[in-house]
Amino acid sequence: MKLSVIGCGYLGAVHAAAMASLGHQVIGIDIDARRVAMLSAGEAPFFEPQLNELLRAGIVAGRLSFSTHIDEARGADVHFLAVGTPQRRDGSAADLREVETAVAELADVLQAGDVVVGKSTVPVGTAQRLATTVDGAGAALLWNPEFLREGWAVKDTISPDRIVVGVATDETGTPTDRAQVAADTLRGVYTDAVDNGVPFLVTDYATSELVKVAANAFLATKISFINAMAEIAEVTGADVMTLADALGHDERIGRRFLGAGVGFGGGCLPKDIRAFVARAEELGRGESVSFLRAVDEINLRRRDRAVYLVEEALGGSVFGKRITVLGAAFKPHSDDVRDSPALDVAARLHGLGATVVVTDPAAIDNARRVSPQLTYVAGRDEALRDADAVVLVTEWDEYRRQLSPEHLATLTPGRIVVDGRNCLDPAVWRAAGFHYYGMGRP
Ligand code: UGA
Repeated sequence: MKLSVIGCGYLGAVHAAAMASLGHQVIGIDIDARRVAMLSAGEAPFFEPQLNELLRAGIVAGRLSFSTHIDEARGADVHFLAVGTPQRRDGSAADLREVETAVAELADVLQAGDVVVGKSTVPVGTAQRLATTVDGAGAALLWNPEFLREGWAVKDTISPDRIVVGVATDETGTPTDRAQVAADTLRGVYTDAVDNGVPFLVTDYATSELVKVAANAFLATKISFINAMAEIAEVTGADVMTLADALGHDERIGRRFLGAGVGFGGGCLPKDIRAFVARAEELGRGESVSFLRAVDEINLRRRDRAVYLVEEALGGSVFGKRITVLGAAFKPHSDDVRDSPALDVAARLHGLGATVVVTDPAAIDNARRVSPQLTYVAGRDEALRDADAVVLVTEWDEYRRQLSPEHLATLTPGRIVVDGRNCLDPAVWRAAGFHYYGMGRP
């Protein structure tokens, strides 16, 4: 099928390359000329495992191209909207300008019978509003939220857990005839996944939009739940890691996303829970999700806790101390520093007068743009040299698996390790003479 993808960021670039790998003819559109040039050359403009290979394969096969001109989307059967919906600068709601602009511009190139598929995360009620413009062009709008995780984006796009499709419904809640046809077209785009048994759930617009924000709200809540338990563990001498393991054995709870530490960041979870609260308040149901405010607060308190631990370890003040921060990305296998707990902790330590050296295998360029006041060193060992304290805040394998206490001891006389991700073995580090501090651990 002929597809267009409007917006080629973390979501759209991967979607375009993945759809081409399934055999579709894909044109990716983005207003950023530099990004389009890189993608056209088969270079991912951000770090995402397997993406370069997928881009190059699609381009070589003649099935994948990129352009800054939305006109080139004309003639595609299906147009995916994959633009950003960041947090508004003046509040906690989502900024929908990119989505609105994309739909307005797309309207001029739509042909009767086209299908427009929204993938961006939007506040509930957005699709219904945008449908008027799309319908006016004789096309049909579907809302098909994306659940990919950065770092696993290629796999998640090609083999998702589920495909959710919001469609236009009549007053009885039944999909309209046009919506039915459009949903079948989308099923055709995802035919490989559907044939492999991936659930294809057709629902109304509001439910599809809610599935996405509810999923992220649930994940954020799960992380903040265990971090709240970490806070209690800290005043009782309990160990949150053993607690999480024990809870996780209950299949109803499950161990995943019970990783206590400096908490969640990135371009999705933090802004999505805030936008959800803002939208619920607009709908007069703020109290239904008021717990998400606590989820956000617990999450941000963990960054304070990490800073406090470093201060405590260094005798009450970090002023004038040399501190190496391992990690800048919001999680490993990513170069994304949006709302990164790691970078936030580093910046706060710098603000308290420490000499902060940050290293990261992928995110240094992005981190330098956001926090230029910090010192960045690409090589891990060079960054660790002469550190008074080491703070691990992004659990890359280079730090969690490939750094032994014996090796660190050759790089610095400092013996303080603050493990903001609870990913090191305290017994090993203590036995080697280090003062180990975890999050929610004795
Ligand atoms: C998240 C969701 O997991 C995806 O399903 C969703 O599609 C995506 O947002 C989105 O809305 O686009 P992502 O932002 O890539 O994906 O990151 P996650 O893997 O969910 O991690 C989020 C943050 O939580 C990271 O900072 C991570 O370090 C932290 N985290 C995760 C914990 O602190 N503890 C855990 O146990 C798990």
